[in-house]
Amino acid sequence: MSTSSSPCFVVLGRACAGLAAFALVACSGGSSADNATPKSAAPEPSAAPVPAPVAPTPAPAASATAATPTPCGEDEQPDCPLQAWMRAHLDKPLDEPDFAKLADGFTRAAKLVPDPSWNSGTPSWASLAKSGAEAAQSKDLDTVKQTCKSCHRAFRSKYKTSFRPKPLPI
Ligand code: HEC
Repeated sequence: MSTSSSPCFVVLGRACAGLAAFALVACSGGSSADNATPKSAAPEPSAAPVPAPVAPTPAPAASATAATPTPCGEDEQPDCPLQAWMRAHLDKPLDEPDFAKLADGFTRAAKLVPDPSWNSGTPSWASLAKSGAEAAQSKDLDTVKQTCKSCHRAFRSKYKTSFRPKPLPI
């Protein structure tokens, strides 16, 4: 736009025209409108409630560099986020089998894609999850199992390589 016009008019536009009094104050920068300055008794933020920095939690193994993620998935370590999620939301209902829960699990799995580009390749994370949900809705156990395998074949090892400790986006 034009660099020469008053920034006030650029910003306030209709407000300047309609609410002249208010706009005047705003436009004048407050220097001449001593009366109009809103009384703002800004309370001094005294040395109040900012908590002292929490004492550093003793790091379990403060050995390596800061980039080291929380270890998971090996013996004596907690399950990794997606691993635990899979067990609860897909593996367990598959055992029963509970098709409603499976359909729900597949539908939610679609949202757990760690990298959106995995949705556009072949196979695609999202479409695998979707066909799993459809198979579960049709109570088609073989196709359900096949879909688990297809996704694991396509994505599991690269997920484990790049994203394993990543918290789930839900
Ligand atoms: C959209 C892709 C996708 C689908 C569909 C999918 N999984 Fe997974 N699953 C993964 C990925 C990726 C991992 C690796 C996560 C990890 O171990 O950190 C995984 C891991 C798992 C694990 C953990 C294994 C271990 O190491 O302990 C189980 C169990 C599992 N899936 C069960 C299932 C079952 C059962 C189904 C079908 C009913 C299914 N998954 C469908 C992507 C998928």
